[in-house]
Amino acid sequence: MKTIIELITEEVKNAFEGKGYEGKYGIVSLSNRPDLCQYQCNGALAAAKQYKTAPIKIAQEIVDLLQDKAIFKEIAAIMPGFINITLSEEFLAGYLNKMKDTEKFGCQSEGQPKTIIVDYGGPNIAKPLHVGHMRSAIIGESIKRILRFMGNKVIGDVHLGDWGTQMGLVIAELKRRKPELVYFDEAYTGEYPKDAPFTISELEEIYPAASEYSKSNPEFKEEAKNITYQLQNGHKGYSAIWNHILEVSVSDLKEIYKTLNVDFDLWKKESDALPYISDMINYFKENNFTRVSEGALVVDVKEETDTKEIPPCLILKSDGAALYQTTDLATIIERMKLFSPDQIIYITDKRQELHFEQVFRCARKTKLVKEDMILNHIGYGTMNGKDGKPFKTREGGVMRLEYLIKSVTDEVYRKIMENRSMEEEEAREIATKVGLAALKYGDLSNQISKDYVFDVDRFTSFEGDTGPYILYTIVRIKSILAKYRELNNEEEADILILPADSSSEQELMLEITKFNEMLETAYKEMAPHRICQYIYDLANAFNTFYHNTKIISEEDTKKKASWISLITLVQNVLLICIDLLGIEAPERM
Ligand code: ARG
Repeated sequence: MKTIIELITEEVKNAFEGKGYEGKYGIVSLSNRPDLCQYQCNGALAAAKQYKTAPIKIAQEIVDLLQDKAIFKEIAAIMPGFINITLSEEFLAGYLNKMKDTEKFGCQSEGQPKTIIVDYGGPNIAKPLHVGHMRSAIIGESIKRILRFMGNKVIGDVHLGDWGTQMGLVIAELKRRKPELVYFDEAYTGEYPKDAPFTISELEEIYPAASEYSKSNPEFKEEAKNITYQLQNGHKGYSAIWNHILEVSVSDLKEIYKTLNVDFDLWKKESDALPYISDMINYFKENNFTRVSEGALVVDVKEETDTKEIPPCLILKSDGAALYQTTDLATIIERMKLFSPDQIIYITDKRQELHFEQVFRCARKTKLVKEDMILNHIGYGTMNGKDGKPFKTREGGVMRLEYLIKSVTDEVYRKIMENRSMEEEEAREIATKVGLAALKYGDLSNQISKDYVFDVDRFTSFEGDTGPYILYTIVRIKSILAKYRELNNEEEADILILPADSSSEQELMLEITKFNEMLETAYKEMAPHRICQYIYDLANAFNTFYHNTKIISEEDTKKKASWISLITLVQNVLLICIDLLGIEAPERM
Protein backbone atom coordinates (compact mmCIF):
# COMPACT_ATOMS: atom_id res chain seq x y z
CA MET A 1 0.00 0.00 0.00
CA LYS A 2 1.36 3.39 -0.93
CA THR A 3 2.18 5.74 1.92
CA ILE A 4 0.24 8.97 2.29
CA ILE A 5 3.31 10.96 1.34
CA GLU A 6 3.67 8.91 -1.84
CA LEU A 7 0.03 9.48 -2.71
CA ILE A 8 0.17 13.24 -2.20
CA THR A 9 3.52 13.51 -3.92
CA GLU A 10 2.04 11.74 -6.95
CA GLU A 11 -0.76 14.30 -7.16
CA VAL A 12 1.52 17.28 -6.72
CA LYS A 13 4.13 15.98 -9.15
CA ASN A 14 1.46 15.48 -11.78
CA ALA A 15 0.29 19.02 -11.22
CA PHE A 16 3.82 20.40 -11.66
CA GLU A 17 4.16 18.44 -14.88
CA GLY A 18 0.69 19.45 -16.00
CA LYS A 19 1.77 23.07 -15.71
CA GLY A 20 4.95 22.46 -17.68
CA TYR A 21 7.41 22.20 -14.81
CA GLU A 22 9.65 19.31 -13.90
CA GLY A 23 7.91 16.74 -11.71
CA LYS A 24 10.82 16.59 -9.28
CA TYR A 25 9.56 19.79 -7.67
CA GLY A 26 6.47 18.01 -6.43
CA ILE A 27 8.12 16.39 -3.40
CA VAL A 28 5.89 16.49 -0.34
CA SER A 29 6.88 16.12 3.29
CA LEU A 30 5.27 16.23 6.70
CA SER A 31 4.51 19.77 7.72
CA ASN A 32 6.91 21.43 10.10
CA ARG A 33 4.02 23.66 11.18
CA PRO A 34 1.36 21.11 12.17
CA ASP A 35 -0.71 23.99 13.55
CA LEU A 36 -1.14 25.27 9.99
CA CYS A 37 -1.34 22.16 7.85
CA GLN A 38 -0.51 18.46 7.77
CA TYR A 39 1.79 18.26 4.77
CA GLN A 40 3.75 20.73 2.71
CA CYS A 41 5.54 21.10 -0.60
CA ASN A 42 8.30 23.66 -0.98
CA GLY A 43 9.08 22.80 -4.60
CA ALA A 44 7.75 26.05 -6.05
CA LEU A 45 10.58 27.94 -4.37
CA ALA A 46 13.19 25.84 -6.13
CA ALA A 47 11.28 25.74 -9.43
CA ALA A 48 11.08 29.53 -9.42
CA LYS A 49 14.85 29.72 -9.80
CA GLN A 50 14.91 27.40 -12.81
CA TYR A 51 11.91 28.97 -14.55
CA LYS A 52 12.64 32.52 -13.49
CA THR A 53 9.15 33.19 -12.20
CA ALA A 54 7.82 34.26 -8.83
CA PRO A 55 7.52 31.22 -6.54
CA ILE A 56 4.09 32.25 -5.32
CA LYS A 57 2.85 32.31 -8.90
CA ILE A 58 3.96 28.74 -9.46
CA ALA A 59 2.54 27.63 -6.11
CA GLN A 60 -0.80 29.25 -7.00
CA GLU A 61 -0.92 27.51 -10.38
CA ILE A 62 -0.36 24.13 -8.74
CA VAL A 63 -2.94 24.83 -6.07
CA ASP A 64 -5.53 25.92 -8.62
CA LEU A 65 -5.10 22.70 -10.48
CA LEU A 66 -5.47 20.56 -7.35
CA GLN A 67 -8.20 22.53 -5.63
CA ASP A 68 -11.02 20.08 -6.32
CA LYS A 69 -9.26 16.81 -5.63
CA ALA A 70 -11.18 14.70 -3.14
CA ILE A 71 -8.00 13.84 -1.26
CA PHE A 72 -7.52 17.43 -0.06
CA LYS A 73 -9.60 19.32 2.39
CA GLU A 74 -7.42 22.34 1.93
CA ILE A 75 -4.55 23.13 -0.36
CA ALA A 76 -3.22 26.67 -0.35
CA ALA A 77 -0.38 28.73 -1.74
CA ILE A 78 1.34 30.71 1.01
CA MET A 79 3.91 33.47 0.65
CA PRO A 80 6.63 33.32 -0.51
CA GLY A 81 5.74 30.09 -2.32
CA PHE A 82 4.86 27.25 0.03
CA ILE A 83 2.06 24.84 -0.68
CA ASN A 84 0.21 23.86 2.49
CA ILE A 85 -1.87 20.72 2.48
CA THR A 86 -4.53 19.26 4.74
CA LEU A 87 -6.22 15.98 3.90
CA SER A 88 -9.96 15.52 3.76
CA GLU A 89 -11.72 13.53 6.47
CA GLU A 90 -13.22 11.21 3.86
CA PHE A 91 -9.85 10.43 2.38
CA LEU A 92 -8.29 9.71 5.77
CA ALA A 93 -11.12 7.41 6.81
CA GLY A 94 -10.91 5.62 3.46
CA TYR A 95 -7.18 5.15 3.87
CA LEU A 96 -7.66 3.66 7.34
CA ASN A 97 -10.36 1.29 6.12
CA LYS A 98 -8.02 0.05 3.46
CA MET A 99 -5.13 -0.13 5.91
CA LYS A 100 -7.00 -2.27 8.40
CA ASP A 101 -7.84 -4.83 5.73
CA THR A 102 -4.36 -4.94 4.23
CA GLU A 103 -1.65 -7.33 5.26
CA LYS A 104 0.79 -5.76 7.73
CA PHE A 105 -1.43 -2.69 7.81
CA GLY A 106 -0.15 -1.44 4.51
CA CYS A 107 3.51 -1.90 5.14
CA GLN A 108 5.16 -3.17 1.99
CA SER A 109 7.58 -6.10 2.23
CA GLU A 110 11.03 -5.93 0.72
CA GLY A 111 10.78 -6.54 -3.04
CA GLN A 112 13.88 -8.70 -3.01
CA PRO A 113 14.08 -10.41 0.37
CA LYS A 114 17.61 -10.90 1.63
CA THR A 115 19.22 -13.52 3.81
CA ILE A 116 20.60 -11.55 6.72
CA ILE A 117 22.64 -12.68 9.71
CA VAL A 118 22.35 -10.53 12.79
CA ASP A 119 25.31 -11.11 15.10
CA TYR A 120 24.25 -9.83 18.51
CA GLY A 121 24.36 -10.64 22.19
CA GLY A 122 28.02 -11.65 22.05
CA PRO A 123 28.44 -12.78 25.68
CA ASN A 124 31.78 -14.21 26.74
CA ILE A 125 31.94 -17.59 28.40
CA ALA A 126 32.99 -17.46 32.04
CA LYS A 127 33.11 -13.69 32.08
CA PRO A 128 30.20 -11.90 33.74
CA LEU A 129 27.58 -10.35 31.47
CA HIS A 130 27.54 -6.59 31.69
CA VAL A 131 25.11 -3.88 30.64
CA GLY A 132 26.83 -3.55 27.27
CA HIS A 133 25.84 -7.10 26.48
CA MET A 134 22.32 -6.23 27.47
CA ARG A 135 22.27 -3.35 25.02
CA SER A 136 23.50 -5.63 22.26
CA ALA A 137 20.75 -8.13 23.06
CA ILE A 138 17.95 -5.57 23.23
CA ILE A 139 18.97 -3.66 20.13
CA GLY A 140 19.82 -6.75 18.12
CA GLU A 141 16.54 -8.41 18.94
CA SER A 142 14.61 -5.38 17.74
CA ILE A 143 16.61 -5.02 14.55
CA LYS A 144 16.20 -8.70 13.84
CA ARG A 145 12.44 -8.42 14.24
CA ILE A 146 12.21 -5.33 12.02
CA LEU A 147 14.22 -6.95 9.24
CA ARG A 148 12.09 -10.07 9.49
CA PHE A 149 8.84 -8.13 9.49
CA MET A 150 9.90 -6.56 6.22
CA GLY A 151 10.04 -9.99 4.65
CA ASN A 152 13.71 -10.91 4.90
CA LYS A 153 15.09 -14.26 5.98
CA VAL A 154 16.88 -13.33 9.17
CA ILE A 155 19.15 -15.47 11.31
CA GLY A 156 20.02 -14.22 14.78
CA ASP A 157 23.34 -15.58 16.04
CA VAL A 158 24.53 -15.09 19.61
CA HIS A 159 28.19 -15.63 18.62
CA LEU A 160 29.50 -16.76 21.98
CA GLY A 161 32.94 -15.54 22.93
CA ASP A 162 34.49 -18.84 23.94
CA TRP A 163 38.00 -18.22 22.68
CA GLY A 164 40.61 -16.14 24.38
CA THR A 165 42.85 -15.69 27.36
CA GLN A 166 39.90 -15.98 29.75
CA MET A 167 39.97 -19.72 29.08
CA GLY A 168 43.41 -20.25 30.56
CA LEU A 169 42.78 -17.86 33.42
CA VAL A 170 39.65 -19.62 34.57
CA ILE A 171 41.15 -23.08 34.26
CA ALA A 172 44.35 -22.08 36.06
CA GLU A 173 42.31 -20.64 38.91
CA LEU A 174 40.17 -23.78 39.13
CA LYS A 175 43.35 -25.82 39.24
CA ARG A 176 44.66 -23.70 42.08
CA ARG A 177 41.44 -24.13 44.05
CA LYS A 178 40.60 -27.73 43.22
CA PRO A 179 43.79 -29.51 42.14
CA GLU A 180 42.11 -32.82 42.98
CA LEU A 181 39.71 -32.65 40.00
CA VAL A 182 40.21 -35.49 37.54
CA TYR A 183 40.78 -33.10 34.65
CA PHE A 184 44.14 -32.15 36.05
CA ASP A 185 45.28 -35.75 36.27
CA GLU A 186 48.24 -36.48 34.00
CA ALA A 187 46.67 -39.80 33.02
CA TYR A 188 43.32 -38.23 32.25
CA THR A 189 41.65 -39.96 29.30
CA GLY A 190 38.81 -37.67 28.46
CA GLU A 191 35.77 -39.14 30.15
CA TYR A 192 34.33 -36.59 32.42
CA PRO A 193 31.80 -36.65 35.21
CA LYS A 194 28.26 -35.91 34.12
CA ASP A 195 27.79 -32.98 36.44
CA ALA A 196 30.12 -30.05 36.36
CA PRO A 197 32.13 -29.71 39.56
CA PHE A 198 31.24 -26.04 39.93
CA THR A 199 28.21 -23.78 39.74
CA ILE A 200 27.61 -20.68 37.70
CA SER A 201 28.02 -18.40 40.71
CA GLU A 202 31.42 -19.94 41.36
CA LEU A 203 32.40 -19.47 37.74
CA GLU A 204 31.36 -15.87 37.76
CA GLU A 205 33.41 -15.16 40.80
CA ILE A 206 36.42 -17.07 39.42
CA TYR A 207 37.15 -14.99 36.35
CA PRO A 208 37.45 -11.59 38.06
CA ALA A 209 39.47 -13.21 40.86
CA ALA A 210 41.82 -14.91 38.41
CA SER A 211 42.19 -11.81 36.33
CA GLU A 212 43.07 -9.79 39.43
CA TYR A 213 45.47 -12.45 40.73
CA SER A 214 47.32 -12.68 37.42
CA LYS A 215 48.18 -8.99 37.62
CA SER A 216 50.30 -9.45 40.72
CA ASN A 217 51.51 -12.94 40.00
CA PRO A 218 53.56 -13.41 36.80
CA GLU A 219 53.96 -17.15 37.38
CA PHE A 220 50.21 -17.61 37.49
CA LYS A 221 49.85 -15.47 34.42
CA GLU A 222 52.37 -17.63 32.60
CA GLU A 223 50.58 -20.78 33.72
CA ALA A 224 47.28 -19.41 32.40
CA LYS A 225 48.87 -18.56 29.07
CA ASN A 226 50.30 -22.03 28.91
CA ILE A 227 46.95 -23.61 29.62
CA THR A 228 45.28 -21.49 26.96
CA TYR A 229 47.89 -22.69 24.49
CA GLN A 230 47.48 -26.34 25.46
CA LEU A 231 43.72 -26.08 25.40
CA GLN A 232 43.79 -24.53 21.97
CA ASN A 233 45.95 -27.42 20.89
CA GLY A 234 43.63 -30.13 22.10
CA HIS A 235 44.73 -30.98 25.67
CA LYS A 236 42.22 -33.62 26.79
CA GLY A 237 41.71 -32.62 30.41
CA TYR A 238 41.49 -28.92 29.70
CA SER A 239 39.11 -29.53 26.82
CA ALA A 240 36.87 -31.53 29.10
CA ILE A 241 36.78 -28.88 31.77
CA TRP A 242 36.24 -26.20 29.18
CA ASN A 243 33.24 -28.12 27.89
CA HIS A 244 31.82 -28.13 31.37
CA ILE A 245 32.38 -24.42 31.69
CA LEU A 246 30.63 -23.96 28.38
CA GLU A 247 27.65 -26.07 29.43
CA VAL A 248 27.20 -24.30 32.72
CA SER A 249 27.58 -20.85 31.15
CA VAL A 250 25.27 -21.53 28.24
CA SER A 251 22.44 -22.86 30.37
CA ASP A 252 22.74 -19.77 32.57
CA LEU A 253 22.83 -17.47 29.53
CA LYS A 254 19.75 -19.11 28.07
CA GLU A 255 17.88 -18.31 31.26
CA ILE A 256 18.92 -14.68 31.18
CA TYR A 257 18.01 -14.21 27.54
CA LYS A 258 14.67 -15.84 28.21
CA THR A 259 14.06 -13.31 30.96
CA LEU A 260 14.93 -10.59 28.48
CA ASN A 261 12.58 -12.12 25.89
CA VAL A 262 15.49 -12.35 23.48
CA ASP A 263 15.60 -15.37 21.26
CA PHE A 264 18.52 -16.56 19.12
CA ASP A 265 18.17 -18.84 16.14
CA LEU A 266 21.77 -19.91 16.42
CA TRP A 267 24.11 -20.52 19.33
CA LYS A 268 27.35 -20.50 17.40
CA LYS A 269 30.69 -19.92 19.08
CA GLU A 270 33.80 -18.03 18.10
CA SER A 271 35.72 -21.30 18.23
CA ASP A 272 33.46 -22.82 15.56
CA ALA A 273 35.47 -20.81 13.07
CA LEU A 274 38.79 -22.35 14.03
CA PRO A 275 38.75 -25.15 11.44
CA TYR A 276 38.72 -22.47 8.74
CA ILE A 277 41.72 -20.52 9.95
CA SER A 278 44.65 -22.41 8.52
CA ASP A 279 43.18 -22.64 5.00
CA MET A 280 42.31 -18.98 5.17
CA ILE A 281 45.84 -18.03 6.11
CA ASN A 282 47.31 -20.17 3.35
CA TYR A 283 44.97 -18.54 0.89
CA PHE A 284 45.96 -15.07 2.10
CA LYS A 285 49.64 -15.94 1.80
CA GLU A 286 49.36 -17.54 -1.62
CA ASN A 287 47.66 -14.48 -2.98
CA ASN A 288 50.16 -12.11 -1.41
CA PHE A 289 47.63 -10.36 0.77
CA THR A 290 49.77 -10.67 3.87
CA ARG A 291 53.06 -9.31 5.03
CA VAL A 292 55.10 -9.82 8.18
CA SER A 293 55.33 -6.88 10.53
CA GLU A 294 57.41 -7.18 13.70
CA GLY A 295 56.95 -10.93 13.59
CA ALA A 296 53.17 -10.72 13.20
CA LEU A 297 51.22 -11.61 10.09
CA VAL A 298 49.09 -8.70 8.88
CA VAL A 299 46.94 -7.58 5.95
CA ASP A 300 47.14 -3.90 5.04
CA VAL A 301 43.72 -2.35 4.76
CA LYS A 302 44.52 1.33 4.49
CA GLU A 303 43.24 2.94 1.32
CA GLU A 304 44.61 5.95 -0.51
CA THR A 305 41.55 8.04 0.12
CA ASP A 306 41.67 7.54 3.89
CA THR A 307 42.09 10.64 5.93
CA LYS A 308 42.47 8.79 9.21
CA GLU A 309 44.97 6.12 10.14
CA ILE A 310 43.66 2.57 9.65
CA PRO A 311 46.16 0.07 11.09
CA PRO A 312 46.59 -3.26 9.32
CA CYS A 313 44.37 -6.21 10.15
CA LEU A 314 46.24 -8.54 12.53
CA ILE A 315 45.97 -12.14 11.43
CA LEU A 316 48.55 -13.93 13.58
CA LYS A 317 50.51 -12.65 16.55
CA SER A 318 54.27 -13.17 16.57
CA ASP A 319 53.76 -16.24 18.79
CA GLY A 320 51.44 -17.70 16.17
CA ALA A 321 48.22 -17.13 18.11
CA ALA A 322 45.01 -16.25 16.30
CA LEU A 323 43.23 -13.05 17.33
CA TYR A 324 39.77 -11.52 17.50
CA GLN A 325 40.12 -10.28 13.91
CA THR A 326 41.25 -13.71 12.77
CA THR A 327 38.23 -15.47 14.22
CA ASP A 328 35.87 -12.83 12.87
CA LEU A 329 37.29 -13.31 9.37
CA ALA A 330 37.10 -17.09 9.64
CA THR A 331 33.54 -16.78 10.93
CA ILE A 332 32.64 -14.91 7.76
CA ILE A 333 33.97 -17.86 5.76
CA GLU A 334 31.91 -20.26 7.82
CA ARG A 335 28.79 -18.14 7.44
CA MET A 336 29.26 -17.92 3.69
CA LYS A 337 29.51 -21.67 3.57
CA LEU A 338 26.50 -22.38 5.80
CA PHE A 339 24.08 -19.63 4.84
CA SER A 340 25.48 -17.62 1.91
CA PRO A 341 24.01 -14.45 3.39
CA ASP A 342 23.48 -11.22 1.47
CA GLN A 343 24.21 -9.19 4.56
CA ILE A 344 25.77 -9.56 8.00
CA ILE A 345 25.03 -7.05 10.74
CA TYR A 346 27.14 -6.90 13.90
CA ILE A 347 25.84 -5.18 16.99
CA THR A 348 28.44 -4.23 19.57
CA ASP A 349 29.70 -1.34 21.61
CA LYS A 350 30.77 1.48 19.30
CA ARG A 351 34.30 1.18 20.64
CA GLN A 352 34.69 -1.82 18.37
CA GLU A 353 34.16 0.31 15.29
CA LEU A 354 37.78 0.18 14.14
CA HIS A 355 37.95 -3.58 14.64
CA PHE A 356 35.02 -4.07 12.28
CA GLU A 357 36.26 -1.51 9.80
CA GLN A 358 39.50 -3.53 9.55
CA VAL A 359 37.71 -6.87 9.34
CA PHE A 360 35.30 -5.65 6.65
CA ARG A 361 38.04 -4.11 4.58
CA CYS A 362 40.16 -7.21 4.86
CA ALA A 363 37.23 -9.46 3.89
CA ARG A 364 36.59 -7.32 0.80
CA LYS A 365 40.20 -6.95 -0.21
CA THR A 366 40.86 -10.67 0.05
CA LYS A 367 37.50 -11.45 -1.61
CA LEU A 368 36.21 -13.60 1.21
CA VAL A 369 32.82 -12.09 0.41
CA LYS A 370 30.89 -11.47 -2.79
CA GLU A 371 31.24 -7.98 -4.10
CA ASP A 372 27.65 -7.01 -3.33
CA MET A 373 27.67 -8.48 0.14
CA ILE A 374 26.67 -5.91 2.76
CA LEU A 375 28.60 -5.80 6.02
CA ASN A 376 27.36 -3.46 8.73
CA HIS A 377 28.56 -2.66 12.17
CA ILE A 378 26.02 -0.97 14.40
CA GLY A 379 27.86 0.52 17.36
CA TYR A 380 25.89 1.51 20.43
CA GLY A 381 26.74 4.10 23.05
CA THR A 382 27.29 3.61 26.76
CA MET A 383 24.59 3.24 29.34
CA ASN A 384 25.54 5.74 32.04
CA GLY A 385 24.48 6.20 35.62
CA LYS A 386 22.90 9.44 36.80
CA ASP A 387 26.38 10.79 37.44
CA GLY A 388 27.05 10.62 33.71
CA LYS A 389 29.66 7.89 34.11
CA PRO A 390 29.33 4.30 32.88
CA PHE A 391 26.72 2.53 34.94
CA LYS A 392 28.05 0.78 38.06
CA THR A 393 26.61 -0.68 41.24
CA ARG A 394 26.53 1.49 44.32
CA GLU A 395 29.73 -0.23 45.39
CA GLY A 396 31.33 0.66 42.09
CA GLY A 397 31.28 -2.84 40.63
CA VAL A 398 29.80 -4.25 37.45
CA MET A 399 26.12 -4.89 37.97
CA ARG A 400 24.87 -8.33 37.14
CA LEU A 401 22.17 -8.18 34.55
CA GLU A 402 19.64 -10.03 36.68
CA TYR A 403 19.98 -7.43 39.42
CA LEU A 404 19.52 -4.65 36.97
CA ILE A 405 16.37 -6.24 35.59
CA LYS A 406 15.15 -6.96 39.09
CA SER A 407 15.67 -3.39 40.25
CA VAL A 408 13.41 -2.19 37.44
CA THR A 409 10.78 -4.86 37.99
CA ASP A 410 10.69 -4.19 41.74
CA GLU A 411 10.12 -0.51 41.12
CA VAL A 412 7.24 -1.25 38.77
CA TYR A 413 5.80 -3.66 41.31
CA ARG A 414 5.93 -0.95 43.95
CA LYS A 415 4.13 1.45 41.63
CA ILE A 416 1.45 -1.08 40.77
CA MET A 417 0.73 -1.79 44.42
CA GLU A 418 0.93 1.86 45.45
CA ASN A 419 -2.65 2.85 44.89
CA ARG A 420 -4.53 -0.34 44.41
CA SER A 421 -4.86 -3.82 45.74
CA MET A 422 -4.03 -6.76 43.59
CA GLU A 423 -3.06 -10.36 44.23
CA GLU A 424 0.68 -10.52 44.74
CA GLU A 425 1.11 -13.16 42.06
CA GLU A 426 -0.72 -11.20 39.40
CA ALA A 427 1.09 -8.00 40.33
CA ARG A 428 4.44 -9.77 40.02
CA GLU A 429 3.51 -11.15 36.64
CA ILE A 430 2.47 -7.73 35.40
CA ALA A 431 5.57 -6.11 36.89
CA THR A 432 7.75 -8.55 34.99
CA LYS A 433 6.27 -7.53 31.64
CA VAL A 434 6.04 -3.84 32.41
CA GLY A 435 9.51 -3.75 33.96
CA LEU A 436 11.04 -5.28 30.87
CA ALA A 437 9.16 -2.79 28.73
CA ALA A 438 10.51 0.04 30.88
CA LEU A 439 14.05 -1.20 30.44
CA LYS A 440 13.82 -1.91 26.72
CA TYR A 441 11.93 1.24 25.84
CA GLY A 442 14.35 3.28 27.94
CA ASP A 443 17.13 1.87 25.82
CA LEU A 444 15.53 1.72 22.37
CA SER A 445 13.98 5.17 22.44
CA ASN A 446 17.48 6.64 22.11
CA GLN A 447 19.38 6.78 18.88
CA ILE A 448 21.55 3.65 19.05
CA SER A 449 24.94 5.35 18.88
CA LYS A 450 24.12 7.81 21.66
CA ASP A 451 25.02 7.34 25.31
CA TYR A 452 22.06 7.50 27.66
CA VAL A 453 21.35 7.68 31.34
CA PHE A 454 19.80 4.72 33.10
CA ASP A 455 17.11 6.30 35.24
CA VAL A 456 14.80 3.82 36.97
CA ASP A 457 12.38 6.51 38.13
CA ARG A 458 11.93 7.93 34.68
CA PHE A 459 11.88 4.61 32.84
CA THR A 460 9.22 3.15 35.11
CA SER A 461 6.95 6.19 35.12
CA PHE A 462 3.46 5.53 33.83
CA GLU A 463 3.45 8.96 32.22
CA GLY A 464 5.64 10.49 29.56
CA ASP A 465 7.79 8.91 26.90
CA THR A 466 8.17 5.52 28.58
CA GLY A 467 7.44 1.85 28.03
CA PRO A 468 4.88 1.68 30.84
CA TYR A 469 2.95 4.62 29.34
CA ILE A 470 2.69 2.80 26.01
CA LEU A 471 1.56 -0.40 27.70
CA TYR A 472 -0.90 1.52 29.82
CA THR A 473 -2.43 2.93 26.66
CA ILE A 474 -2.75 -0.53 25.12
CA VAL A 475 -4.33 -1.89 28.27
CA ARG A 476 -6.78 1.02 28.28
CA ILE A 477 -7.86 0.21 24.73
CA LYS A 478 -8.17 -3.46 25.58
CA SER A 479 -10.48 -2.65 28.44
CA ILE A 480 -12.72 -0.40 26.32
CA LEU A 481 -12.97 -3.12 23.71
CA ALA A 482 -13.79 -5.71 26.36
CA LYS A 483 -16.53 -3.52 27.72
CA TYR A 484 -17.94 -2.91 24.26
CA ARG A 485 -17.96 -6.64 23.54
CA GLU A 486 -19.68 -7.31 26.81
CA LEU A 487 -22.44 -4.80 26.02
CA ASN A 488 -22.81 -5.42 22.32
CA ASN A 489 -21.72 -8.91 21.61
CA GLU A 490 -20.30 -7.85 18.27
CA GLU A 491 -17.11 -8.36 16.33
CA GLU A 492 -15.59 -4.91 16.20
CA ALA A 493 -12.89 -5.33 13.57
CA ASP A 494 -15.06 -5.38 10.45
CA ILE A 495 -16.98 -2.21 10.97
CA LEU A 496 -16.35 0.72 8.66
CA ILE A 497 -14.43 3.66 10.04
CA LEU A 498 -16.37 6.86 9.37
CA PRO A 499 -14.83 10.26 8.64
CA ALA A 500 -13.68 12.05 11.78
CA ASP A 501 -16.00 14.55 13.38
CA SER A 502 -13.67 16.11 15.90
CA SER A 503 -10.19 17.46 15.63
CA SER A 504 -8.83 14.97 18.14
CA GLU A 505 -10.27 12.13 16.10
CA GLN A 506 -8.77 13.63 12.96
CA GLU A 507 -5.38 13.88 14.68
CA LEU A 508 -5.58 10.30 15.78
CA MET A 509 -6.43 9.14 12.28
CA LEU A 510 -3.55 11.08 10.84
CA GLU A 511 -1.10 9.50 13.29
CA ILE A 512 -2.26 5.99 12.44
CA THR A 513 -1.74 6.55 8.72
CA LYS A 514 1.94 7.31 9.30
CA PHE A 515 2.60 3.70 10.27
CA ASN A 516 3.89 2.35 6.94
CA GLU A 517 5.96 5.45 6.24
CA MET A 518 7.55 5.27 9.68
CA LEU A 519 8.31 1.58 9.50
CA GLU A 520 10.00 1.87 6.15
CA THR A 521 12.24 4.55 7.64
CA ALA A 522 12.96 2.50 10.77
CA TYR A 523 13.87 -0.38 8.46
CA LYS A 524 16.10 1.60 6.13
CA GLU A 525 17.92 3.28 8.98
CA MET A 526 17.80 0.20 11.24
CA ALA A 527 16.53 2.55 13.89
CA PRO A 528 14.13 1.19 16.53
CA HIS A 529 13.93 4.67 18.09
CA ARG A 530 11.73 5.68 15.13
CA ILE A 531 9.18 3.15 16.28
CA CYS A 532 9.34 4.50 19.83
CA GLN A 533 8.79 8.06 18.60
CA TYR A 534 5.84 6.94 16.54
CA ILE A 535 4.08 4.94 19.24
CA TYR A 536 4.57 7.75 21.71
CA ASP A 537 2.85 10.17 19.32
CA LEU A 538 0.17 7.63 18.55
CA ALA A 539 -0.46 6.91 22.24
CA ASN A 540 -0.73 10.64 22.93
CA ALA A 541 -3.15 11.14 20.05
CA PHE A 542 -5.23 8.23 21.29
CA ASN A 543 -5.33 9.48 24.86
CA THR A 544 -6.40 12.96 23.77
CA PHE A 545 -9.15 11.45 21.66
CA TYR A 546 -10.17 9.21 24.53
CA HIS A 547 -10.44 12.11 26.96
CA ASN A 548 -12.58 14.07 24.50
CA THR A 549 -14.88 11.26 23.49
CA LYS A 550 -17.40 9.23 25.42
CA ILE A 551 -17.10 6.08 23.41
CA ILE A 552 -19.08 3.51 25.35
CA SER A 553 -22.01 5.78 26.19
CA GLU A 554 -22.39 7.16 22.64
CA GLU A 555 -25.96 6.73 21.44
CA ASP A 556 -25.36 6.80 17.73
CA THR A 557 -24.49 3.13 17.30
CA LYS A 558 -22.91 3.60 13.88
CA LYS A 559 -20.59 6.23 15.20
CA LYS A 560 -19.79 4.17 18.25
CA ALA A 561 -19.01 1.14 16.11
CA SER A 562 -16.75 3.25 13.93
CA TRP A 563 -14.83 4.42 16.98
CA ILE A 564 -14.48 0.86 18.17
CA SER A 565 -13.09 -0.08 14.80
CA LEU A 566 -10.74 2.88 14.93
CA ILE A 567 -9.33 2.10 18.35
CA THR A 568 -9.04 -1.58 17.45
CA LEU A 569 -6.76 -0.46 14.67
CA VAL A 570 -4.77 1.71 17.10
CA GLN A 571 -4.41 -1.28 19.40
CA ASN A 572 -3.27 -3.60 16.62
CA VAL A 573 -0.75 -1.14 15.27
CA LEU A 574 0.63 -0.55 18.76
CA LEU A 575 0.87 -4.29 19.34
CA ILE A 576 2.83 -4.79 16.15
CA CYS A 577 5.15 -1.95 17.07
CA ILE A 578 5.91 -3.15 20.58
CA ASP A 579 6.48 -6.64 19.25
CA LEU A 580 9.11 -5.18 16.94
CA LEU A 581 10.75 -3.70 20.01
CA GLY A 582 10.65 -7.08 21.75
CA ILE A 583 8.05 -5.89 24.27
CA GLU A 584 4.87 -7.66 25.41
CA ALA A 585 1.74 -6.11 26.87
CA PRO A 586 -0.10 -7.48 29.91
CA GLU A 587 -3.89 -7.90 29.90
CA ARG A 588 -4.28 -5.31 32.62
CA MET A 589 -2.08 -3.20 34.82
N1 ARG B 1 32.19 -11.14 22.61
C1 ARG B 1 32.41 -9.83 22.11
C2 ARG B 1 32.45 -8.82 23.26
O1 ARG B 1 32.08 -9.12 24.37
C3 ARG B 1 31.36 -9.41 21.12
C4 ARG B 1 31.27 -10.26 19.88
C5 ARG B 1 30.64 -9.52 18.74
N2 ARG B 1 30.58 -10.28 17.53
C6 ARG B 1 31.62 -10.51 16.72
N3 ARG B 1 31.44 -11.25 15.66
N4 ARG B 1 32.79 -9.99 16.96
O2 ARG B 1 32.84 -7.71 23.04
